[in-house]
Amino acid sequence: MRKKLVAGNWKMNGSLAENAALLAAIKPALAGIEAAVCVPFPYLAQAQAALAGSSIAWGAQNLSDQAKGAYTGEVSASMLRDFACTYVIVGHSERRSLYGESDELVAKKYMAAQAAGLVPILCVGESLAEREAGVTEQVVARQLDAVIAAAGVASLANAVVAYEPVWAIGTGKTASPEQAQAVHAFIRGKVAALDPAVAAGLVIQYGGSVKASNAAELMTQPDIDGGLIGGASLVADEFIAICRAAAN
Ligand code: PGA
Repeated sequence: MRKKLVAGNWKMNGSLAENAALLAAIKPALAGIEAAVCVPFPYLAQAQAALAGSSIAWGAQNLSDQAKGAYTGEVSASMLRDFACTYVIVGHSERRSLYGESDELVAKKYMAAQAAGLVPILCVGESLAEREAGVTEQVVARQLDAVIAAAGVASLANAVVAYEPVWAIGTGKTASPEQAQAVHAFIRGKVAALDPAVAAGLVIQYGGSVKASNAAELMTQPDIDGGLIGGASLVADEFIAICRAAAN
């Protein structure tokens, strides 16, 4: 059986005081449940100190494709490893759309993460216009193909894929369990055509307005292996309930 993994994406939220309260609430409640939080860079040390030795891993939301040097404002994979990060989100739709990250750049970041021993959480997903135009599968395939072409299908054995329809992120509009399952099955089938064993083990998270109230129906779909949670990951009771729904 594939594991289920719920990861919080805090985005650009939090403060030392708010994080301390949130981490103190989720840590004991999720004892024994594998989960993760992806926090802003300045709070990695805080997450590490609070969560070391627990079943909750931590990570970042972005990284540089470069290893080191004159890249003002960037953060490298090895720096994330210095804070014992397990995960790093790559290719989130907000990075693709607000910061112009191309499929090729996302693939380079994915490879930089893996080269340093981090597990990339590769985000893919279509916009509302793309869904309405009926090109959801083409868009998701293009985003995946860029990574597979650069890093090889075997690299997915050390990665997580997050399907996040852009129209569902932060909008309160969740994909229905059937809509999400259909795309997850498409993703797994596409990988299976290249490497059935990698496909069978691949954790594919759903993200986009997951809440405690809709988590169970999403997490019981056969190809949904957890979630990438934005807004609800900032509310301890919501995040705990989502993680528990996935673990059940
Ligand atoms: P949301 O965000 O849960 O607030 O919709 C998900 C994400 O962007 O990862």
